[in-house]
Amino acid sequence: MAPAVNRNAAEIDYVNQPDPSTNSRPELETGANHAESGTKLLRVVAVGFGVLCILQVALNVSLRLALNKPQPTPDEMLCGNETRDACELKQQTRQYLQKGWLYFRDSFYYMSSIKKTWPESQEYCQQEDADLVIVNSREEQNFITQFSRNRFTWTGLRELAGTDQWIWVDEALLTESYWGPNEPNRLEKENPICVEMRFFDTENSWNDISCTTENFWMCEKEAPL
Ligand code: BGC
Repeated sequence: MAPAVNRNAAEIDYVNQPDPSTNSRPELETGANHAESGTKLLRVVAVGFGVLCILQVALNVSLRLALNKPQPTPDEMLCGNETRDACELKQQTRQYLQKGWLYFRDSFYYMSSIKKTWPESQEYCQQEDADLVIVNSREEQNFITQFSRNRFTWTGLRELAGTDQWIWVDEALLTESYWGPNEPNRLEKENPICVEMRFFDTENSWNDISCTTENFWMCEKEAPL
């Protein structure tokens, strides 16, 4: 009985022994494995860090490009991709409206707040790339009468010297007129005569008067449509 027990014990001892033929050292293998996985981890962290750096550089470059891009001017924002003509029209419209001109039936109108002689008034309008107002229709006549608000106001009409004709600032002769009652009467024969709006309680308001009189004035600029 005893040898059998011993045999079993010997077998058990043998099972727990390391196999001498493999010559392996488990405790050293575990250390190497740890070192290897530590290296792997380091490598992953390093690669990750590198990728993050690259992303950061890319972000910085694109931000810098975006921020350094020249900002659109107000005019570019106004026009977008429109043609040059359309853009100029918009710009011009904006400029006249910003300066207080009114838009009515394809023209811009300016009513002065001070008084000048007729030639000085026309000079003012020309500096604004416009002329004294030219009246082409009853609608326009009604509009400028309202806009002048009962102030004696120069129109762009004057006598053609040495004739009995009237001529507009664009050199067109007068065809359709809105003279006040008993006008024109050419009272001041010795002076060049120009035409103002004066009569506001009748349907027609025009009066002829010396061009050296100081009056309010109205400019007109046709919108280039
Ligand atoms: C007359 C006009 C004249 C004006 C200024 C008005 O009463 O009707 O013809 O131009 O006075 O003298």
